[in-house]
Amino acid sequence: METEYRVSTDRIEKRANLTSDRKLAHIQICLEHDVQGRNITTGLEDISFVHHATTDLNIDEIDLSIEIFNKTLSLPLIISGMTGGHDFAHKLNAFLSQAVEQTNIGMGVGSQRAALENEEVKESFNIVRENAPNSLIIGNIGAGQIAQGLTNDQFQELTDMINANAMAVHFNPLQEAIQPEGDTQLKGLHEKIRKLIQAHSVPVIAKEVGAGFSLYDIAQVKKIGFQAIDVQGAGGTSWAGVEAIRTSLPRYKNTGEVYWDWGIPTALSTILAKRNFEGTIIGSGGVRNGLDIAKLIALGADAAGMAIPFLFAVQKHSTEAVVQKIEEIAYQLRLACFLTRSRNVLDLKKASLMITGKTAELMKMHGIDPSSYYSRE
Ligand SMILES: Cc1cc2nc3c(=O)[nH]c(=O)nc-3n(C[C@H](O)[C@H](O)[C@H](O)COP(=O)(O)O)c2cc1C
Repeated sequence: METEYRVSTDRIEKRANLTSDRKLAHIQICLEHDVQGRNITTGLEDISFVHHATTDLNIDEIDLSIEIFNKTLSLPLIISGMTGGHDFAHKLNAFLSQAVEQTNIGMGVGSQRAALENEEVKESFNIVRENAPNSLIIGNIGAGQIAQGLTNDQFQELTDMINANAMAVHFNPLQEAIQPEGDTQLKGLHEKIRKLIQAHSVPVIAKEVGAGFSLYDIAQVKKIGFQAIDVQGAGGTSWAGVEAIRTSLPRYKNTGEVYWDWGIPTALSTILAKRNFEGTIIGSGGVRNGLDIAKLIALGADAAGMAIPFLFAVQKHSTEAVVQKIEEIAYQLRLACFLTRSRNVLDLKKASLMITGKTAELMKMHGIDPSSYYSRE
């Protein structure tokens, strides 16, 4: 395993301009190294539901379904954008999309940039819509590509490639700054995105990749005209960390180490989004189980996103393994509803929460009273 990774890394350093090689290295690094936040957490551990020992629901009758982007999902779960752009990604996307269609959840694809650069890799994205004709499928492109002048036609091409129900624009300035080839020339970005959104009818999502959105960012996202926010806060996969491992250049490696834990924790970023943004909110970044999803819904998210747990699930190269993971997560979410007397997912939004620790402190710093989440039932 280790040897295989070293070979790939050498190849990547020789051909650093090839987007698909970079994407393959990301997958290998995520599978072979611990790339989770080190001293930062999502803040979800500070959130507890009030237990209802006297619950009087039938657990099987709890309705987990939600409506999002004009689709009904069987539970509020979206596999966050990860892969596409090379043969290996084609396989992973094939298994993931089959499981998504079978279980009726949502799925984002990884950055479609590679398909703009190389026709041959389009098939690794097309397969997702082929396997999941009825599912919520979300496209993906980097803010960096928009800053560099992505055209309306190119944006439309990306949407059409997977017949996307929504498009995510990923903001990842930290990750880009830990790469010698990174997109860090972002002047004029907001205006360019605003024009793209205005020119297309597909809903556009502002997505981070693991550093979350601050209160200031949420105001910008609203001003630019995004219809949705995919929080992707800190505490889960660290992309400064992944890039630190990928590079051998000391300047970037050491900087990635220093910034490993940078960002706005997922719980806080979701709370801020709910209070300051009227559009759709996906709570994400470090979401690892159905209880985490329940907490994010209770904090105001419409659905939750999970990336790396599904990379591990699909590593077995079987649709069944992914389906099993989804069913396990659904049961954990169902149990949170049962134990809080929530008849459906929307009821979770009224469930009482006890918010303590760092998250409570950060909320107070933002003028939000944590105890208001306790007395709402
Ligand atoms: C292997 C891998 C590749 C990824 N590629 C992309 C990408 O192309 N575009 C994107 O917006 N996010 C990408 N992400 C980031 C995830 O969508 C997500 O924002 C991030 O990993 C945090 O979620 P997690 O803690 O559940 O992993 C990738 C994540 C992984 C694990």
